Amino acid sequence: MSQDLHKEVQSRKTFAIISHPDAGKTTMTEQLLLFGGVIRSAGTVKGKKSGKFATSDWMEIEKQRGISVTSSVMQFDYEGSRINILDTPGHSDFSEDTYRTLMAVDSAVMVIDAAKGIEAQTMKLFKVCRMRGIPIFTFINKMDRQGKMPLELLAELEEVLGIESYPMNWPIGMGKELMGLYDRYHRVVEQYRVPEEDRFLELGEEGDLKAANPLQDSGYYQQALEEIMLLDEAGNEYDEQKIQQGELTPVFFGSALANFGVETFLRTFVNFAPAPSAHEANVGNVEANENYFSGFVFKIQANMNPAHRDRIAFVRICSGEFDRGMSVTLTRTGKAIKLANSTQFMADDRETLNRAVAGDIIGLYDTGNYQIGDTITNGPKQLQFEKLPQFTPELFMKVSAKNVMKQKHFHKGVEQLVQEGAIQLFKTWRLEEYIIGAVGQLQFEVFEHRMRNEYNSEIIMEPIGKKIARWIREEDVDEKLSTARSMLVKDRFDQPLFLFENEFAVNWFKDKNPDIELTSLL
Ligand code: G4P
Repeated sequence: MSQDLHKEVQSRKTFAIISHPDAGKTTMTEQLLLFGGVIRSAGTVKGKKSGKFATSDWMEIEKQRGISVTSSVMQFDYEGSRINILDTPGHSDFSEDTYRTLMAVDSAVMVIDAAKGIEAQTMKLFKVCRMRGIPIFTFINKMDRQGKMPLELLAELEEVLGIESYPMNWPIGMGKELMGLYDRYHRVVEQYRVPEEDRFLELGEEGDLKAANPLQDSGYYQQALEEIMLLDEAGNEYDEQKIQQGELTPVFFGSALANFGVETFLRTFVNFAPAPSAHEANVGNVEANENYFSGFVFKIQANMNPAHRDRIAFVRICSGEFDRGMSVTLTRTGKAIKLANSTQFMADDRETLNRAVAGDIIGLYDTGNYQIGDTITNGPKQLQFEKLPQFTPELFMKVSAKNVMKQKHFHKGVEQLVQEGAIQLFKTWRLEEYIIGAVGQLQFEVFEHRMRNEYNSEIIMEPIGKKIARWIREEDVDEKLSTARSMLVKDRFDQPLFLFENEFAVNWFKDKNPDIELTSLL
């Protein structure tokens, strides 16, 4: 790889923001885009109340086409780095794709609402990041409002998530009394709501203000100093290696809405966030600076507009560079594909993407060639990246064809959508009735829609609700254990598992059958 290309790859910072709905992910993203010069005013990414996307003409086209890829990947340059932010849809759009997106990033930013602490969806997404061992940066948001005490929030990170933390800054006051942030890393105090020229106060050797300032007389400042002393003595040590391995999270306090602490966060993040790392494959580790192009499909977005059948396959480039029109091999089929139609996501223009390098994400118009987890490359012919993990579904539906005469369409549709990773398939143990599983409601809606429009199959879906799926060993199968509260089913590889009604049913089962090992996917 040439020196220039190597430099370009090193400049990539590809990450996702993980959070629970309402913690402030959109607000934070907007601020980052503002700093990146991609948007000019806040409120552009999402018209909050209307829930609609803003109407620049690019987005209008997207809307008409029914694909909201616009916000799926956002790219901008900041202080010599090229930042790729991958969206992880929450709310009603939460799906397995949200998890899979985390397979395509090199680091994650975890946004936490200071008043709420660690919430359910954050925890789920965090687990996936943790499993990958990627660096996780924490932004504790909404400090302009009264929230939990900072020390309490740190304790929560360690106790609930089991990750060590190192506060990079510390709030001075909170809510209406927020006065600033004591920046331990840059050794300055950043004052809240003061004229720009007064914003930063330098710290001396002893960690106290260099020049006298009225702030010193405030009880909040004194309290912050005491807490920082406590952290210095009893807190975790700053350890860059642990940060890189995802074992210690640097914590930043701030307010996305007030745009306070966000720029410092971004600057520090860019400094620490890793450049594209190696990916495991069947030919050994593929480094970002290999001489050949390689990447994998981590998400397929179907077009919900029946007039446009095309789909977009999202590819994370793992090595080398992409040029529009280049030929690659799809390892699974051995087929050669010319990558003529590619699309760039939100950047400063909406031109078709001509060039991208390792770390970047490209969208390929797809007429049915790709499946999730596919590898494409112009390097070693047999190169296949590690399989993407499957995630334990939580919502289940019984599904059947409305018209019994159209079983063929129905089976073909189910088979293909399952293969593509849109939904997971299970069958009841004896009768082999179909049950589909998902991590988010949206997956069912997409499934129904695509069955109708792409496979001409009207389906009946009968919700069986939220279940806890736990796999068992084949030798432990005993049909007598199958009850309404613990239903024995098989997955699409014929592996046995129980769908438990709730946590209580799981525990009850464990008590009665201590020898049966229950396992979950991620
Ligand atoms: P999400 O993408 O994580 O779901 O959260 P989003 O950014 O949409 O923020 C959720 C709500 O929290 C929004 O209020 C937003 O304005 C508010 N918010 C975000 N960051 C901060 C912060 O630092 N301080 C305070 N006080 N509020 C913050 P909303 O009422 O739902 O929307 P809107 O009517 O204000 O637009």
